[in-house]
Amino acid sequence: MGLEIEPSGQACGATVRGVDLRASLSAETVAEIRTQWLEHKVLSFPDQILNDDDQGRFTQYFGPFGDDPFFDPVDGHPNVAAIHRGADETTPLFAESWHSDWSFQQFPPDGTCLYGRVIPPAGGDTLFANQTKALQSLPPELRAQIETLNGIHSARLSYAPDGMYGEHDDAAGRQMSITYDESAYDTQLHPLVRTHPETGEATLYSTIGYIIGIDGMTEADARELLISIYHHQIDEAVQYRHVWEPNMLVMWDNRCVLHRATGGYEGHERLLHRTTIGYNTNP
Ligand code: SIN
Repeated sequence: MGLEIEPSGQACGATVRGVDLRASLSAETVAEIRTQWLEHKVLSFPDQILNDDDQGRFTQYFGPFGDDPFFDPVDGHPNVAAIHRGADETTPLFAESWHSDWSFQQFPPDGTCLYGRVIPPAGGDTLFANQTKALQSLPPELRAQIETLNGIHSARLSYAPDGMYGEHDDAAGRQMSITYDESAYDTQLHPLVRTHPETGEATLYSTIGYIIGIDGMTEADARELLISIYHHQIDEAVQYRHVWEPNMLVMWDNRCVLHRATGGYEGHERLLHRTTIGYNTNP
């Protein structure tokens, strides 16, 4: 039986049924999933009972494991990280700002897989924003202004010693194991507008936060320009709200969506396991 695909009806996202991700997948099924992933950008697979090995095997159908800095992995699984918040935790929410995963790397990851283990009864949705649609929504003069510019990406605001998770972070009670180091000061240039290597679609790439400036512009001018793009990048019209269920695997395409975590589940635990689909030179 082929895959059953139910589009979300929002700016991206689809639910996929008719496949058991515990099994080895045929090349044909993997190709079918990849086609749907490229079309819908975010795929969710409900009712999948997976362990970390299953999640790792699924991830590697789509590329090599990515390099995950600033997290300690879960025991025994160097490529799996826990996105975990305790029921009574009061630290700032992890990943609450819009971002594309690890965009500050030279070769940022193509995608991310997140598997819901403990899901609160309400709240904790993940928001996605379709950056192909966001680019299409830019006024022509704004698009022309940014078309050839390169963003300066860096992890420093979050993971440097003086960043949010650095020396002054009050991590008391935090379930997640987040680390910081000097490498977060490194910078990397990427075009603000990129061509998706598989679909050929033009798309905005990443956003203010991991983009700390624009090559060749003053900090103030860059900030103003990044903020004017940001309003389009996260407009409700380009969003998809993902509502989690336990035993659901979600995969998203970092090359053309932004995402962010949301709260609203105080008093309840939330635990997801995350794997990264690395940069694929030959998708
Ligand atoms: C993430 O950005 O990896 C986490 C998203 C979430 O917790 O919803």
